[in-house]
Amino acid sequence: MSTSMRLLMLLTGIFFLLYFSLEPYMDMFERPAIAIPEDIIFVNNSGCFLSARQSPARYSPAGEPINLLRCRKPQLMSARTRKGANFLVPKAMLENLQCTYWVLAAKDFQSNKVLLEGHFSLKRGANADIPIGEGQQIVRVKCKNQTNDTIYHDVHFFLPPPLRKLKPNETEKLSVMVLGIDSISQMHFVRSFPQLNGFLENVHTKFFGYSRVGQDARANLMPFLSGFSSDEAESQTEAWLWERFRAQGYGTAYGEDSAEVLFTTRNEKKQFPSEPTEFYLPPVLLEMHSHSRYSLDLREMIYCTAGRQFQEVLRDFIAKLVPHMRQRPFFSFFWESQGVQEYYEFATQLDQPYMMLLKSLQEADILNNTILFLMSDHGLRAGDYRSSFQGMEEESQPLLLAIYPDWLKVKYPQAMENFERNSHSLVTPYDLHQTLRDITCLDQLQNSQIEQRNKTLQSHLPENLPRGISLFLPIPEYRTCELAHIPSLFCFCRKHTEIPLDDGLVLRCSRFLVKSINQLTKPHSQCAELKLHSVVMAYFMDFGEESFDHELRLRVMTLPGHGEFEATVRVSDALKLTSSISRVNPYQAQSHCVSDPRIKVLCFCT
Ligand SMILES: *[C@@H]1O[C@H](CO)[C@@H](O)[C@H](O)[C@H]1NC(C)=O
Ligand SMILES: *[C@@H]1O[C@H](CO)[C@@H](O)[C@H](O)[C@H]1NC(C)=O
Ligand SMILES: *[C@@H]1O[C@H](CO)[C@@H](O)[C@H](O)[C@H]1NC(C)=O
Ligand SMILES: *[C@@H]1O[C@H](CO)[C@@H](O)[C@H](O)[C@H]1NC(C)=O
Ligand SMILES: *[C@@H]1O[C@H](CO)[C@@H](O)[C@H](O)[C@H]1NC(C)=O
Ligand SMILES: *[C@@H]1O[C@H](CO)[C@@H](O)[C@H](O)[C@H]1NC(C)=O
Repeated sequence: MSTSMRLLMLLTGIFFLLYFSLEPYMDMFERPAIAIPEDIIFVNNSGCFLSARQSPARYSPAGEPINLLRCRKPQLMSARTRKGANFLVPKAMLENLQCTYWVLAAKDFQSNKVLLEGHFSLKRGANADIPIGEGQQIVRVKCKNQTNDTIYHDVHFFLPPPLRKLKPNETEKLSVMVLGIDSISQMHFVRSFPQLNGFLENVHTKFFGYSRVGQDARANLMPFLSGFSSDEAESQTEAWLWERFRAQGYGTAYGEDSAEVLFTTRNEKKQFPSEPTEFYLPPVLLEMHSHSRYSLDLREMIYCTAGRQFQEVLRDFIAKLVPHMRQRPFFSFFWESQGVQEYYEFATQLDQPYMMLLKSLQEADILNNTILFLMSDHGLRAGDYRSSFQGMEEESQPLLLAIYPDWLKVKYPQAMENFERNSHSLVTPYDLHQTLRDITCLDQLQNSQIEQRNKTLQSHLPENLPRGISLFLPIPEYRTCELAHIPSLFCFCRKHTEIPLDDGLVLRCSRFLVKSINQLTKPHSQCAELKLHSVVMAYFMDFGEESFDHELRLRVMTLPGHGEFEATVRVSDALKLTSSISRVNPYQAQSHCVSDPRIKVLCFCT
C-alpha cells in the first residue's frame, strides 16, 4: 500500500470519526454533508441570464482591524449656526492655546481664496463660542500650545438653514437624491448592510439587472449624469443632470468624501464642473486634503481631519442640507468612496450610518416627496476578493435600488408598474439618465404618455433600440449586452465556462492580448515591452446558438512587473480585442513615468 493511500485512509477515518461523533443523529444519505449555496436569479430573460451566489468568496482581511480604527486626533471644536450667525464652539481645553483661522468664502464654497485671517486664544477649561461671520463659510483653524506645537488643525464649514420660508410651489415636483457608495455589488450589500436591508424591507425596488458599462466610477457615472460615455462626454456640451433640474426650479447639491473630484476632465483645461451645483462640497474637502488631512490606515486610503473621517464630513453636509431640501424640490448627488473602495470589511462600518441617515430623511418628511437611489458603480475592484471567479462576477453587478413615495403609484400607475417590472431587466447607467430626465417633467409619466412612448419603443427594430431607455417604460425582454451598449468585458449575461489554461487557442489569444498591450504602450518609449509569463484564467463565453463567434475572457500575467491583465478576445476569422484591458492587481509605483491614466495601468517603466 502506498503512503499516499494510507494517508488518505487515515484522513478518511478521522473524518468519519469526527463526522459521526459531532452529528450523531444526522442521516448522511438524506442530507448532503456540504450545503451548496443556492444561486439567486437576478435576470432570466431571452436576452440575458444573470445569477449570483449568496455566500461570499474567500478573501483575506486587511491586515489591520479596519472596522475598529478611529481618527487619532482630538476634535476640539465644532461649527454651529445660531440665529443666522456662525460660531466655532470649543470643547473644554486641557491647556492654553493660541489659534489662527482663515475664512475662505463668505457666500458660497466655490472659491478657496482667503478672505479673512483672524486670531483667538483659548484658556484651559471652558471657553466662550467664537463668532466667525454669517452665511455659507469655510473656516480653517490651527491652534498651537505655549511651546508652539500644533495641537489642532481642522477645516469647518457653515451651511445655515434657509432664512425665509418659501411658499410651496403649486406645480408638483419630485425631488431626487442619489446616495452613492463606491464598489458595492448587490451581494456585497446584502452581506454587509443587514440593518439597512431590514430598514428598507418592502419599501424599495431593487434593480437586480443593473450593469456597469465602464471600468471605474467616472466611466459609470458619466453616462448617468450626462447621458454620454466618459470618452464622448469630453467633447459634449450637453447639460448635466443638475443643470436640467436647476432649469426646472430645483435646488442642487453635490458632495463627495474625497478631494479628488470624480469629474475633473482628463483635459485639465476643461475643469468640471463649469457650473457647479448651488451647494458644492469639494472646496471643503480640498482644503482638508491640502492642510489638515492625515491617514487612518497603513495603506493611506482613509483620511481624517482632526477627529472626523472624511466620510463623516460628507454626511454632515447632507444633514445640513435637510432644512433646504424640506423647502423646495431638490436634486442632490452624494458619493462615498473612502475605505469601501479598498477593503472588503469596510462596508459593514457604513451599515448603521446609512440606516440612521435614511431614518433622519424619513423623519424630516423628505422621503415622501423624493425618489432616492442608493447605488454603486461596480463591485470591489481592489484586493484579493476580486481575484476569485465570484469576485470577478460581482464586479459587474453594482447595487441599484430606489425608494419612492406611494403617491407616485397612485398618480402614475403604468409608469410605476413598468418601473417595478424592470427590477429584473438588464439596466444601465444610460437608462438611469433617461429616467431622471423624465422626472424633470412628470407629465411624461401620465398613462397616455407612457402608452404613446411604449408604442414608439416597440416600433424600433432590436438593432435600433435606443442606448438609454427610461425605467418608466417596459425594457424589452430581448435586450442583450450588445443592444444595451455594455462592453463584453463587463457583461455577465453570458455563461462563462472555464477552459484549460494550456489549450492552444487560449495561448494564442493570450499572446494576442499581450501584443495588444505592447501596441498601446509603444508610443511611450519609457514603457517596457511585456512578455507573457502565464495564463492565470480563461473562460469561454457563450453567445448562444445564433452566433458563429466565440469570445474568451482571459487573465494573463506579464513580465517584467508581474502585472495581471484581463480582457476579452473575440475569435472569428481573426482575433479581435472586444474590451478595454483591465489591470487587476495593483500597479502603484510601476507606472510613475506616464500620466495618461489609460496607459498608466498598462505601463511598466523601464
Ligand atoms: C428562466 O425562465 C424560463 C422561462 O420563463 C424558465 O423555464 C426557466 O426555468 C427559468 N430559469 C431559471 C433558472 O429559473
Ligand atoms: C505642547 O504640546 C506638545 C505636544 O503635545 C507637548 O509635548 C508639550 O508639552 C506642550 N506644551 C505645553 C506648554 O503644554
Ligand atoms: C512661538 O512662536 C512665536 C511666534 O512665532 C515666538 O514669538 C515664540 O518665541 C515661540 N515660542 C517658543 C517657545 O518657541
Ligand atoms: C415655481 O416654479 C417655477 C418654475 O420652476 C418658478 O419659476 C417659480 O419661481 C416657483 N415659485 C416659487 C414660489 O417657488
Ligand atoms: C409627508 O408625510 C407627513 C407625515 O407622514 C405629512 O405630514 C406631510 O404632509 C407629507 N408630505 C408630503 C409632501 O406628502
Ligand atoms: C407596450 O406595447 C406592447 C406592444 O404594443 C404591448 O404588448 C405591451 O403590453 C405594452 N406595455 C405596456 C406596459 O404598456
